[in-house]
Amino acid sequence: MRSIAVQKGVVQPGKRLSADDRMLDYLKQIFEAGTALAEIDNISHLLEKVAKIAVVMGSCEGCSILSSNNKELEFLASLNIGMSGDAGGMQYFSNIILPINSKTIVGHCAITKKILSIDDVYKLPADANYSYNSQWDEENNYRCESILAIPMLDSKQNLLGVLELINHISGEDIAPFPAEMLEYIRVLANQVGIVLKNLQQAEELRRSRYETVMQFVKACEYRDHDMHGHIERIGEYSAILFQKLGYTTEECNIMRLAATLHDVGKISIPDAILKKPGILTPEERLIMQEHAACGHEMLTGAESPMLKMGAIIALMHHEKWDGTGYPNKLAGKNIPIEGRIVAIVDVFDALCSRRCYKESWPMEKVYETIEQDSGKHFDPELVKILQESRQEFEAVREKYPPHK
Ligand SMILES: [Fe+2]
Ligand SMILES: [Fe+2]
Repeated sequence: MRSIAVQKGVVQPGKRLSADDRMLDYLKQIFEAGTALAEIDNISHLLEKVAKIAVVMGSCEGCSILSSNNKELEFLASLNIGMSGDAGGMQYFSNIILPINSKTIVGHCAITKKILSIDDVYKLPADANYSYNSQWDEENNYRCESILAIPMLDSKQNLLGVLELINHISGEDIAPFPAEMLEYIRVLANQVGIVLKNLQQAEELRRSRYETVMQFVKACEYRDHDMHGHIERIGEYSAILFQKLGYTTEECNIMRLAATLHDVGKISIPDAILKKPGILTPEERLIMQEHAACGHEMLTGAESPMLKMGAIIALMHHEKWDGTGYPNKLAGKNIPIEGRIVAIVDVFDALCSRRCYKESWPMEKVYETIEQDSGKHFDPELVKILQESRQEFEAVREKYPPHK
């Protein structure tokens, strides 16, 4: 069968190399893959990179990546360079789970922890337990022929997932995956499995840390019923501005969480003041302003970069660019960038949300007001970035809508 990817001109017909040259080529690709994988810090980048590397290294039309929790396999992503439209290109999946058993090709590979190379899935041996599900082929007018399923194993031979390659291209035709390739692909699969597992663990840790902090913040602010989604939005808005200023993904993750701590000091404010529907008296306003120093005190002394940043934000988020804010009347760049960011996003969010003392404002009026306060309340550079980020800010409001 002629390769669909070659027919469409997506790949050039494979060159015929000598055995030595092919081996050198594999070694070079393994080395490059190891270097590239080591630099990746998030799962979707990893999946995209791996899929591209695997398709080149396997000289094939497609690739799927599945992770394992030892009971089930989860389809994470696939790439098919022979197909266009919805069925082609890079696809990411969530919640496509397969039980680990011998009924499927990837399941059989996972159970045996051995490479399974099939020359033609429509001509499986009669004694094979597993079968090929041709539904995708029929729906997409595609024909899968050769498959290589490779278990991803750690150094203790624990299963981390399965890498599946589809339709090896030899010259212009689909052919079985060559035996000499298997050891190299096995090395690649194991590397991928380990990086994937590390990233999944880091993500799990990040998620549980995020949830812990959110529970803490919500406990501090539970009396403030008007704040629906406020802390989530402040975290997201702050991370957007931080990212646009050039901070790394990791720094933005820290910022996203630290920003949510800006008002934890409000735990010290009496209900009569915190929930007062009308305008505060000067004395009440002074008491309310104590939440900045109080929040700073609550968070000071912690070792984690996130809590350190949270302490700065708690203290600085009511300072103003022109030096008329509180508690220390700092001005301009003497206010740390984290404080300047939360100052602007906190006001932005308050203006476009309903509060016990006001209705929400129309968005145009909100943006106008922010613009008018550029260089007074807010850092002019941040005002500019916020105005340029309207779409991203709107997406956050859709995800975490305030009370209407
Ligand atoms: Fe505040
Ligand atoms: Fe706030």
